[in-house]
Amino acid sequence: KEIFLKDYKLPDYYFDTVDLSFWLGEEKTTVSAKISVVPRVDGAASPLLLDGVDLKLISVKINGNELKEGDFNLESRHLILTSPPSGNFILETVTEILPQKNTSLEGLYKSSGNFCTQCEAESFRKITFYQDRPDIMAKYTCRIEADKSQYPVLLSNGNLIEQGELEGGNHFALWEDPFKKPCYLFALVAGQLESRDDTFTTSSGRTVNLKIWSAPQDLPKTEHAMYSLKAAMKWDEDVFGREYDLDIFNIVSVPDFNMGAMENKSLNIFNSMFVLASPETARDADYAAILGVIGHEYFHNWTGNRVTCRDWFQLSLKEGLTVFRDQEFSSDLGSTVKRISDVSMLRTNQFSEDAGPMAHPIRPHSYIKMDNFYTATVYVKGAEVVRMYKTLLGNQGFRKGMDLYFQRHDGQAVTCEDFFAAMRDANNADFANFLLWYSQAGTPVVKVTSSYNAEARTFSLKFSQTVPPTPGQPVKEPMFIPVAAGLLDSSGKDMPLSSIYHDGKLESVTCGGQPVYTTILRVTKGEEEFIFSDVPQKPIPSLLRGYSAPIRLQSDLTDSDLFFLLAHDSDEFNRWEAGQILARKLMLSQVVNFQKSRDLVLDPQFVHGIRCVLLDSSLDKEFIAKAISLPSEGEIMDMMDVADPDAVHAVRKFIRKQLAFELKQELLNLVKENRSSEKYVFDHTNMARRALKNTALGYLASLEDEEITELVLQEYKTATNMTDQFSALAAIAQKPGKARDDALADFYNQWQHDYVVVNKWFALQSSSDIPGNVENVYKLLGHQAFDLKNPNKVYSVIGGFCASLVNFHKKDGSGYKFLGEMVLQLDKLNPQVAADLVSDFSRWKRYDETRQNLAKVLIFLFGGVRICRF
Ligand code: ARG
Ligand code: ZN
Repeated sequence: KEIFLKDYKLPDYYFDTVDLSFWLGEEKTTVSAKISVVPRVDGAASPLLLDGVDLKLISVKINGNELKEGDFNLESRHLILTSPPSGNFILETVTEILPQKNTSLEGLYKSSGNFCTQCEAESFRKITFYQDRPDIMAKYTCRIEADKSQYPVLLSNGNLIEQGELEGGNHFALWEDPFKKPCYLFALVAGQLESRDDTFTTSSGRTVNLKIWSAPQDLPKTEHAMYSLKAAMKWDEDVFGREYDLDIFNIVSVPDFNMGAMENKSLNIFNSMFVLASPETARDADYAAILGVIGHEYFHNWTGNRVTCRDWFQLSLKEGLTVFRDQEFSSDLGSTVKRISDVSMLRTNQFSEDAGPMAHPIRPHSYIKMDNFYTATVYVKGAEVVRMYKTLLGNQGFRKGMDLYFQRHDGQAVTCEDFFAAMRDANNADFANFLLWYSQAGTPVVKVTSSYNAEARTFSLKFSQTVPPTPGQPVKEPMFIPVAAGLLDSSGKDMPLSSIYHDGKLESVTCGGQPVYTTILRVTKGEEEFIFSDVPQKPIPSLLRGYSAPIRLQSDLTDSDLFFLLAHDSDEFNRWEAGQILARKLMLSQVVNFQKSRDLVLDPQFVHGIRCVLLDSSLDKEFIAKAISLPSEGEIMDMMDVADPDAVHAVRKFIRKQLAFELKQELLNLVKENRSSEKYVFDHTNMARRALKNTALGYLASLEDEEITELVLQEYKTATNMTDQFSALAAIAQKPGKARDDALADFYNQWQHDYVVVNKWFALQSSSDIPGNVENVYKLLGHQAFDLKNPNKVYSVIGGFCASLVNFHKKDGSGYKFLGEMVLQLDKLNPQVAADLVSDFSRWKRYDETRQNLAKVLIFLFGGVRICRF
């Protein structure tokens, strides 16, 4: 059933306190719930509708009296109390559930020997009958009883207030959470776990006990997670003035989890891949992801938990904001190229969503199944929208807005308008039609043309914007687009900006007498002109600095302008971007060549530009690694009228190889200069060094060259950490053959006992572009380490396969057939994971007719799978 944002109604009843009691058995679990119910309007005895799925109702009482048939209706997904008393009352239910049989990993489930929960978005209803909506906020207690030897650790939200022994080898724990919360933040964990313990003292002097729980053998690998947690706690105090609010904070690592992690109040539950790390088993990228996700879930304590969402349409209110916060955190902790990675991610994952059949605004207007709306749009485009407030208001203005947001809404369930209003009111800001970002889907296309008038010493930028039609939204309004802009002089320096003529007014750009080099142009109309005055020479404009809005910008910059920006722009993001625009142009032009004649050439000017970047010792090494990496195949295909995966793949491969050939000596030097036999350190300098070395190695490995083959093997053998070992393995694995087979076998042998590493090994093979890889992937499904019930393994092998566009979209339909088969099997086991994989189809309309027809057959099959919005 489709649910609409416009149909939101206040609940008829609120819940004040909720006392839960679990008896965790081997066959079944019994859940008793005692809820104090308060009607919203006193005396209105309307029916009380409770959600409940896969529950066996044992009894239901009101004010201590057992209800009989006729006093309630029990439907497949609801329990309806037809005539509750008027005024406050106590509702008590007893239900039974089967966590051991729960393969959906939603609600309460048993995984690898331990009980754990996942309630967001709407799975608390799989635990007990409840008004399962986030605007019902209550205070909880949770009593857990279980066998003591099997489940020595019993955890829930808040503080442990009592624990003790029970008859028959059982024990119990009673937890109390003093903060009101929506039920999606409820959590319970029980099992054989051990903790790494530490403390954090908050700025006001509260000592918080920190515990990271995992299976005993994994405990040594939680050190980096603990470092990340403490860093996040400190950062939220320093940057947003937000302190932690309880005396205990728990993180639990579980191997079977549908998503990355979950921000349950004071009891975060994590997919183990975002907790466990050691230098030997985790790459720099894994270390960085752990830092980001630990930060993300911790930051939710304020943005999500203390202030939560009124309904699920508002998901981006907490997710967009919290992603923005974790991006800033990672960037402040030393990842200088974080902005570049985030924008690449947006382009690769979100732009395709925005251009396809699933396109939706960051706040959708309707949904059928909420779980399918945890999308790149809600999360990462949502984060870009939050970033635009900061761009418009500056650091201090943004902080004022955040402070007002917490001041107004602490303890409430609110909407995206409330956030907007706090930002606006705290700054007396004029945000024009900014709210359209919440309701219009599609990536705006902004065209800009420039002209210099030497006589008048003016420089004009003319903007025009269109927002492409998306399903259900054929016509769009112009959006409010902040464009950060600067002007470079002929020596490559930023020119000081003086004033801008716009909308009939001349506005000065100076700031307290200080020169300004970057200004924010507020583009709000379909067509609009900005004229810079007092510009002494023809400048080269640097537009959309820091990627100040999630749009596609088409400028009239020439290739030589772009090479100039690549060499000189003071804005690091735009320096990288200039190189990317050049690379995109080059790739698109070669795709046309390939389609016509299969003849490919590499422009020597491009090689020269890349060489300059490689050799520029003033540049950050991590930046160089990014700047010499080509745009993804998906990015290029999204720019074509009809996507051609074979041509794009051939072109990208050709350019990589040609660059490696032309720059072989430079790349070899980089590998040599950036080796180190020192102990692994997770810091910017070392990560940047490894990134550059391994990017160079990846390029070199595309050559057919004995010397290089030896070098790569040598790198593999001598590696002392996973970053270097895995990069070398990936380099070897680019080409089919004995060296590849041997290295893959050797790696598995070494790491077969470590499931997190084995998943990387799976993903490396499944996502490979080597011809006909679907056959290998079928073999991997039969591998002893594979398990269809474990989401990480599914994402590694099946999701990994879809990441190789050339194999997934193969014209014989073998890739589509593979995914189709897998999705149908998975839908029975774990519908959320199945739905996630189907989103790999979201680009299907962008392909040629043969592929579209193949895809249609599968989309028809997926009719049975609940996802389809195609
Ligand atoms: N709130 C979690 C996070 O972003 C993710 C929950 C995802 N839930 C889902 N049903 N997909 O941190
Ligand atoms: Zn989140």
